[in-house]
Amino acid sequence: MPAKQKFYLTTPIYYTNGLPHIGHTYTTVVADVIRRYKRMRGYEVVMTTGTDEHGVNVERAAKKTGVPESEFVAKMADAWRALWLELGIPADEFVRTTDLQHVRTVQWLFKLCRENGYVYKGHYTGQYCIYDNAFVNDAKPGDNCPDCGRPTETLTEENYFFKLSAFQKPLLDFYKKNPEFIQPESRRNEIVTFVEGGLKDLSITRTTIRWGIPVPGEEPHVFYVWFDALTAYLSAVGGPDYEKRAMWPADLHLVGKDIIRFHTVYWPAFLMAAMLPIPKQVWAHGWFLMDASKMSKSKGNVVLPRPIANMLGMDALRYFLLREVVFGQDGNFSYDALVTRYNSDLANGLGNLASRTAAMIEKNFAGKIPKAGKLEPQDETLARETQTAIGDVLDYFEKLNFARALESLWTVIATADKYLTTEKPWALGDSEADTQRKATVLATTAELLRIVTVLAHPVLPDSTTKIWTLLGQPGSVSAAELDGLRWGQLTTGVPLGKPQTLFPRVEKSEAIERIESMANEERNPTAPPAPAPAVASSATAGAATAAAPAASEKIGIEDFAKVEMRVGQIKTAERIVGADKLLKLTVDIGTEIRQICAGIAQFYEPDSLIGRKVAVVTNLAPRKLRGVESNGMIIAASVGPEGRPVLAGFLEDVEVGARLK
Ligand code: MSP
Repeated sequence: MPAKQKFYLTTPIYYTNGLPHIGHTYTTVVADVIRRYKRMRGYEVVMTTGTDEHGVNVERAAKKTGVPESEFVAKMADAWRALWLELGIPADEFVRTTDLQHVRTVQWLFKLCRENGYVYKGHYTGQYCIYDNAFVNDAKPGDNCPDCGRPTETLTEENYFFKLSAFQKPLLDFYKKNPEFIQPESRRNEIVTFVEGGLKDLSITRTTIRWGIPVPGEEPHVFYVWFDALTAYLSAVGGPDYEKRAMWPADLHLVGKDIIRFHTVYWPAFLMAAMLPIPKQVWAHGWFLMDASKMSKSKGNVVLPRPIANMLGMDALRYFLLREVVFGQDGNFSYDALVTRYNSDLANGLGNLASRTAAMIEKNFAGKIPKAGKLEPQDETLARETQTAIGDVLDYFEKLNFARALESLWTVIATADKYLTTEKPWALGDSEADTQRKATVLATTAELLRIVTVLAHPVLPDSTTKIWTLLGQPGSVSAAELDGLRWGQLTTGVPLGKPQTLFPRVEKSEAIERIESMANEERNPTAPPAPAPAVASSATAGAATAAAPAASEKIGIEDFAKVEMRVGQIKTAERIVGADKLLKLTVDIGTEIRQICAGIAQFYEPDSLIGRKVAVVTNLAPRKLRGVESNGMIIAASVGPEGRPVLAGFLEDVEVGARLK
């Protein structure tokens, strides 16, 4: 078999002085979509992300929390890594700029640049923006930073300089020879104009900062953050030994428009100076804005990804980010638009098509996809249109035009809906001819759905995996080959998989309220964050089940008396959208009806609980779980290694509200 072609792509190496918001999530999601897409096209792909851990901002943030920098950044890097994992977008390589391998790579790159005559020592005085870690070209004392608008500081220090001025012509030649290097086109023109205007040498070390990679033998010089951070792309795939790993040069650096200059001017110049291969492409996307301004912690308008993923599922967030805004342009983020798209495109669109198709096959063909019979012109038209869409969608993906790719796919879904409405398979009878026609219509729809599922997989990995299972198709959807995808490959006659919950419809204002409430909880945690509760409210689940204090730790009766427990009776029970483990209950405790969330959804059907008498802890402080208020806790035993909850109950009839002592 021929060796696979490699594809190496990166996200920016994110600063560790804050935690990821929707802007960072956007770039990382896009990288993940491209990774999945390229894999389905047969590439061997490596995707790198990581954390940029040096510089004055981190120094300050660490000081604020009173811990040493190394401890501070280790915690932050863990948090970034964990969130990407939780959101299903972990990188293949997670590079930290404090990794030893990275330190070695930066020092090696510097040595190469120096040996080749592109580094000299000098003094620099200038206006420096400490927030952006950059000297501001042409600024005078008192000027504000043009990027962030905050005051600059005058700084003089001994620096090593990089002869960036020597690279004006080589860079312009490089851009000309590689017109695809800077994308989109508008950014390319902006950068070419900037470089044509002349390049000043760049200071690449600092003596005013302590928290950085040391320049060997030149202490107290440490490397300037951009010389340090950009090099992380190379250290992630072998550093000085990059040839062994055979991933360098990067095929694609994905960045926000804020950092395009560093990636398309400094970075190729450093690599040219060191005579190392230059990346093939830098793609700068726009910003997600909140009320028309860039999100930032200081403005307090930062949107967090986790509450959205908890409420609507990560696929919904991915879909929204890619569908709402043309890649490359700025766009507004709004919860309203997010939930609207969720309901219309996912719940009513793809989700509904998948479940109704499966339900009709279940009902009419004993749960096995039938073979199509004689094709009518309208079946052939649908097949032709879907086949054409395959080419269009792949073409859009190739150009990173995700919004158009999804738009084309959703046009196919709409066509299928129309086709079903006209063909009305549900209105056909049981005669031989009707059964044949039903088979053709349902097989045609299932084939269309299979193709949509494969094409949507890079964007909707979880739900398309569920639809693939639902359709009973062999293998996994992620292993489907995009290059060989065409109409007519549906496996028929196999049993459908179990029905799957895809995108349950949500009530808009309720969903937004829950997302916002979860976001508030995440921003201002009132109690230590806990994983999904085993039984009731997270604060209390442990007390009732396995995690009791060590056996030796005895409590007095007065401590026990502080816990008020009563007999309660469950009045209503329902699932909570976006929280697989929780049920929302209303419980009569004699004096009032309480709303309580219980982590028992995977073990108890809501209807089976109505009327049941349970033991309730009634004097716990209320708290919100997944945005839903929980006022009390239901007692349960925790059984077996997985802690299956078994509700405590009474063998004799007891009065609701009776106290447990
Ligand atoms: N550490 C540097 C990058 C070094 S790369 C060698 C840095 N870090 S950052 O944490 O500030 O991340 C910036 C990146 O986050 C942007 O380039 C973009 O990819 C993403 N975004 C941050 N806010 C954003 C929006 N509001 N909208 C879209 N993406 C944005 O810069």
